[in-house]
Amino acid sequence: MKKSNAKPAKISPELEKKIEELIGKMTLNEKVNQMLQLSYHALPAEEFNKKVEAGLQGSYLHVLGPETGRYNDGAASSRLGIMPMFGIDAVHGHALLHGATVFPSQLAMACSFDEELVEKIGLATAKEVAADGLDWVFSPVLCIGRDLRWGRVDETFGEDTLVVSRLGAAIIRGYQTDGLVAACAKHYLAYGEATGGRDAYDTEITERKARESFLPPFRAVVDAGCMTFMTAYGSIDGIPVMISRRYLREILKDEFGFDGFVVTDWANFQALVKRQYIAKDETEAAKLGVLAGNDMSMNTPEFERGCTEAVERGDIPMEFIDDAVRRILRVKARLGLLDGTRKRPDRSVIGCAEHEKLNYRAALESCVLLENNGILPLDRKKLGKVAVIGPNADDWRAQIGDWTFLSHPSPNPDAEPNDVNVTVLSGLRAALPDTEIVYEPGCVIEKEISDEESDRMMHAAIAAARDADVVVLVLGDDLAENGETKDRSDLTLYGRQNELARRISAVCQNVVTVMVTGKPLVLGEVKKCSAALLQCFNGGDLGGKAVAALLLGDENFSGKLPISFPYSTGTLPCYYNQYDYWHDGRYMDAPTTNLYYFGRGLSYSEFEYGDVKLSSDKISADGEFAVTVDIKNVSERDGVEVVQLYFRDLVCSRLTPVRTLIDFARVEIPAGETKTVTFRVPASSLGFVSEKYDNVVEPGDFRLFVSGDGEHFKTATLTVTE
Ligand code: BGC
Repeated sequence: MKKSNAKPAKISPELEKKIEELIGKMTLNEKVNQMLQLSYHALPAEEFNKKVEAGLQGSYLHVLGPETGRYNDGAASSRLGIMPMFGIDAVHGHALLHGATVFPSQLAMACSFDEELVEKIGLATAKEVAADGLDWVFSPVLCIGRDLRWGRVDETFGEDTLVVSRLGAAIIRGYQTDGLVAACAKHYLAYGEATGGRDAYDTEITERKARESFLPPFRAVVDAGCMTFMTAYGSIDGIPVMISRRYLREILKDEFGFDGFVVTDWANFQALVKRQYIAKDETEAAKLGVLAGNDMSMNTPEFERGCTEAVERGDIPMEFIDDAVRRILRVKARLGLLDGTRKRPDRSVIGCAEHEKLNYRAALESCVLLENNGILPLDRKKLGKVAVIGPNADDWRAQIGDWTFLSHPSPNPDAEPNDVNVTVLSGLRAALPDTEIVYEPGCVIEKEISDEESDRMMHAAIAAARDADVVVLVLGDDLAENGETKDRSDLTLYGRQNELARRISAVCQNVVTVMVTGKPLVLGEVKKCSAALLQCFNGGDLGGKAVAALLLGDENFSGKLPISFPYSTGTLPCYYNQYDYWHDGRYMDAPTTNLYYFGRGLSYSEFEYGDVKLSSDKISADGEFAVTVDIKNVSERDGVEVVQLYFRDLVCSRLTPVRTLIDFARVEIPAGETKTVTFRVPASSLGFVSEKYDNVVEPGDFRLFVSGDGEHFKTATLTVTE
C-alpha cells in the first residue's frame, strides 16, 4: 500500500507570514465570524442568505457540492477573501450525497480489525468529499461503545480503547492523505459513557478513568496529526466538556500538543444558556467556551454578538481570539484554502468502480460468523429450495444505517437506494440464479400494521419455511432505533422477531440467521433457533452481496466482534475488560458471562494455536519483550485470523481488569500452513494510571493471553523486575 502522508504538511514560512498579516488586518467582527460555522438550519432564510453573501463565515456545514458556488463567491468577494471550510458528516463514506460510496458503518468496519482497510476507506471517502467541493469530515467517532443502550453505538469502533485508537488513527491517515480533507476527532470526551446510556447526559467518570480508557484514542490521533476536534454535548462530573479548561486547554492543547482547532457540537454555545443552565446569556457562554479552548462555534449564530460583547467588555482577551483564528487559518492553509492551491480530485471518483471494489472487501471483512453447526457454507449443488425470510432481508435502509442521504440532514422516506445497493435477498438471487428462492418478510420491526396483517405475514413465512430446504432468516433493527436521541431501554428484538425465529425453527432445521443491526442486541432466543448465526451490523451498500458470497462459501469469514453481546439488557455493561467479580457472581437470575465476547468470530478455516513463547520471562519496567506464537491452519481452506494479545497484572495495588488488549494482528494463513506471529511489546503497556496520572508498571508477575476468540487462551507468565 502507498505510504500515506497524514501528518499535516509543514506550513511554509510565507503562509505563516500571510496568516499573521491577515490576523493583523482582521476586524473583531471578521475574526468572530471566522470562528462561526453555520448551516441553513441556523437562521431564517433571508438572514442566512445575507451571511452567505457577506462571505465572512469561517465554515459552513451540511452544504453539498453542487451548492458550494454561492458560498465560495460570497467569500471571494469579501474584503479579505478568506475561503470557508465546508464540513460534512461523511462518517462511513460521503454518504449524505446520493450516489457516493456508502461503506459499512464504523462499528461494522471495526469487525475487520484491519488498519490498512480502514485507512483505505478513509482515503476513498476523502477523495469523494474533496471532489464534491468539501473540505472537512466530522469523523471519526472515538467514543468507546460500552453502554449498548446508547443510540450511537453504531458510530463507534466498538468497546476497546486500543482498537478505537488504532482504527481511529488509521482512518485519519486515510482522510488526511496529502491534505485531501481535514479529519475531526469526536466527541471529545467520554460522550458514549453518559449515565444510563442517555445521549448527551452527564458522565460519572474521574480524570483517572478518563486517562485510562477515554483519552488514549484522542491522544493517538493527535499523534497521527488529526487537524480538528469536536467537543461532546455531555459533561464530566458536572462540567460541560465544552467549557472545561482542564480537558480542552490543559490536557488536549498543552499536554498532548494538539495544534489544530476545536469546534463545538451542534448549537452547543446556545445549549450552555438554554439547556444546561450554565451561562446566563450568550455573552457569558462565549466567554466560558472560548476561554476554555473552543475555537469555532457550530451553528449558534448568537455567538457572533455574544463573543463580540465579551471581547469588548474585556472578558475575553484578544490573544484568545487571535489564537483561535490562527488555529483555523492554519488548518485552511494546510488544505490549500488560503493561497488558492486547494487540489480536488475529479468528480468521477464519486462512487467509482475502484471504491465499489474496496467497499465489497469492507463488507466481507465486517461480517462476523458467530455460530455454525456445519450447515455453512451452503452447497449450491445440494441447495434445493431456499426461503429468505425476515424484515431486514430486503430492507436497504436498515442495511446502510444512519448518517446517509436517507436519514440526514432530515429523514427522507422517499429516497431510492444507490444503483449498486444489494440486500441479502437481492444478493442471494444474483448468486443463485438457478435456485428457487421465495421471500417472506414474516413480520415488521416497528411499523404499525393491523393484527390481521401481522398474522398473515407470520403464517406466510412459516408456510414458506416448511416448504424450504434452507431458511435464511434476516432479523435486526432499523433506522428508527439507531442514532442521536434513539437510546433504548430494552435491547430485545422488536416486534414479533423472536416469535418468528421460534416458529420458523419449529418447521425447518436448517435456519441460517443473519443479523442486520446497528449494534449488539439480545440474541439468546435467536441463537437457540439457528443452525448458523451471522452478525453483520450495517454493512453498507454491498452488505447483502457480501453475505451471499460468505453463505455460499465463495468467500471466507475473517471478522471478529469489536464489541460484546449481553444475555439481557439488565446484564449491561458487558464489555470484556471489567474488574473481576468475587462475591459469588453478579446476578441471581442471569449468567455471569456474556452471550458473545469481544474478539469472537468463526471462519471456514480452523486454526490451532501453539504454545506462547516469550523472548525472556523477566524484563525491567522500561524494557521491551516479544511474544511469539505459531498458528496452524489445520483446515483445507485458506483463511485470515485476527490474533489478539491480552494481559493481566497478577498482583497489583489497584484493581485491574480481567484482561486488557495490548496488541492484535491480522494474519493470512494458507490451508495447511503455519505462521509465526510475533508481538513486540514495551513493558510500559502493562501499566495502570495512578492517582497522579502517571503510567505505573509495578514489578511482579503478569499473565499474557493469546487468543483468536476472546474466550480461549494460550498463556504465559512474565515477571517485571524491580
Ligand atoms: C452530532 C455530531 C455531528 C453534528 C453535525 C451533532 O448533532 O452530535 O456528531 O457531527 O451534529 O451534524
